[in-house]
Amino acid sequence: MRNESSLTRRHSLPYRTAYEIYAASVWLFASAYMAYLHAQHVMPREMSALLYMVCIVFAVKRGHEGWLILRDRSLLSGRRFELMPRSKLQTLMRPDHLWLGYGFVWEPKHTQKLHELSRINPASLMLPDFMHRFFGRGDQYQKNEEIGMPYIHGLEPNEIELHRFLKNFEGGTLILGTTQAGKGVALCNLFSQAVLRNDVVIFIDPKGSPRVYESFRKACTAAGRGEPLNYHPGNRDKTKGIRLDPLATFSTGAQIATRIMSVIPGKPDAFTQFAWSCIKTFADALIELKIKPSLKLLSKHINHGIDDLLRDLLLDRIERFASENWREEARSFMAPIKEGRLTESQEELLLMVSFYEHVLDKKEQTLVVDECLKVFHHSKEHYAKITASLMPIFAMLTSGPLGDSFSPDPKDSTDSRPIWNLESIILTRSCLYCHLDSLSDNMIASAVGSILLGDLVSVAGKRYNLGKTDIRISLFVDEASNVCNNPLIEILNKGAEGGIYTTVAMQTIADLAHRLGSQDAARMVLGNCNNLIALRCKDRPTQDFVTETFGKTYIHQVDTTLSTHADTHAGLPSFEGGASHKRTAVREEIIPSEYLGKLPNGQFFAFVGGGHLLKGHVPVITD
Ligand SMILES: Nc1ncnc2c1ncn2[C@@H]1O[C@H](COP(=O)(O)OP(=O)(O)OP(=O)(O)O)[C@@H](O)[C@H]1O
Ligand SMILES: [Mg+2]
Repeated sequence: MRNESSLTRRHSLPYRTAYEIYAASVWLFASAYMAYLHAQHVMPREMSALLYMVCIVFAVKRGHEGWLILRDRSLLSGRRFELMPRSKLQTLMRPDHLWLGYGFVWEPKHTQKLHELSRINPASLMLPDFMHRFFGRGDQYQKNEEIGMPYIHGLEPNEIELHRFLKNFEGGTLILGTTQAGKGVALCNLFSQAVLRNDVVIFIDPKGSPRVYESFRKACTAAGRGEPLNYHPGNRDKTKGIRLDPLATFSTGAQIATRIMSVIPGKPDAFTQFAWSCIKTFADALIELKIKPSLKLLSKHINHGIDDLLRDLLLDRIERFASENWREEARSFMAPIKEGRLTESQEELLLMVSFYEHVLDKKEQTLVVDECLKVFHHSKEHYAKITASLMPIFAMLTSGPLGDSFSPDPKDSTDSRPIWNLESIILTRSCLYCHLDSLSDNMIASAVGSILLGDLVSVAGKRYNLGKTDIRISLFVDEASNVCNNPLIEILNKGAEGGIYTTVAMQTIADLAHRLGSQDAARMVLGNCNNLIALRCKDRPTQDFVTETFGKTYIHQVDTTLSTHADTHAGLPSFEGGASHKRTAVREEIIPSEYLGKLPNGQFFAFVGGGHLLKGHVPVITD
């Protein structure tokens, strides 16, 4: 194997004028002259034949060297942004592998070449368009009007199909790229393969890109999986798309509370903790009463207070365990109530509470009723303050068209949309596209996305506990900085165990830091992704994150010094000269960060499978 250490790496300068072509022309001319001398009988036949052959051999050798220089210069014109028919994708896929695009494995020699190029003006080395045809690249090179520096992809002549083991992607994949860099194109490639692999595919698209949805739809129909389920929270048409029940899967009220509170980003504080326990109590009470909690129902009860639910729960205890004269027994523990201060039903409730707390056997008391009683006895002002802050969240999630589609009522005969939940979607191996429409309402998009991710964590957790990880779930979250919350972080951390392969795409780390409250929190989340695909990134913190992940390498620098010295002391001028050649190795970023900002559309650097660094480009899949 060739030693590629920085000091033994061959130092050549491929990016220069192809002087070898001149030399080859001279050798060709010399060979022609030998032939002429032979024709003129000036030279013996054997001699001229021998010299002719020598000239031809050197002409071919130098011509080939010159051709390689010109080919390397042609490659500097890069690869244009390509279109690829969907049918081709199937031929590129391999079992248990993921196809990332076309490209090459990035090695230190490519970093070396980049450094060589940074000393010169690459534009001066570009060949005229017609010359690319000589190298079989007549329609492949990047046109001048396209964004980005083409030469970054032109550092390696041999392009291959980039495959990685699917298992490498269990730990989450992050796609970073500025707007229009090709995040959508990269996601289309990845979800099209997931659809063809027969995974459950869930795409959360906060922006709601019609182009990406169309590609998703075509991927599903082309794979024979029919039309995908389409969820749009702002959809007023009760005949199109589906309704989603995000509270369908739960085992305790706590899970429901966590899901709803995931709408609020950032660290939990005293307010969020109290609000969480409040929702949990109401949800547990509904579950105890055998009523399925929905967002609308929870909103209604939290707004009205615990009295109604508590009354029903206590009634159940009384019906089962109270004697005929329970009222008298209960009243004996109560201070007399002034007449007219309370309504009849309030008085009755106080009696029931007294019965539960003082008369009922401890064995028959339940945790759910105890929790409800805590809310009942809690300061009314404080409770009102907390619920006043919770109400806008519920109002957001239950009003307008979202109310019908996100708290679906099976008895609503005016709504013909089918009701789905994530568990049924997974069991039937369906494909779901959530079109969250953040451009028209960012708050709602973010809230809906957060709750769905929370629901997915519950479903995955349940499946994991039951040992059912046979179905692979491919989750894609575009513009993830809009919906990033604790459930998403949990999915990135532990999703693989529940069979979830997550891919998140975002523009900058700053967006995520803004949502999570700090740069450190954002980096911690991104650190959970085992694989990184970096498209064109413009902002410095994002570039720094990417280059830190990629690591460093040694590159060598050659410093040449030439000196001349004229000494006139001796009476006669005496000239001295010197030349020195110094070669040093310096540790540099393997991908210098400024090049991340110069990548053309659809081109990426990928860090996958724990250290494999790839340079590639992904084509747009068309039909
Ligand atoms: N089907 C297509 N045909 C031709 N060009 C396309 C197609 N899809 C995407 N492109 C081009 O690919 C480039 C990247 O588009 P893409 O939608 O992937 O951007 P993005 O990174 O997702 O940007 P944004 O953050 O704005 O969503 C754009 O220049 C776009 O014009
Ligand atoms: Mg996009």
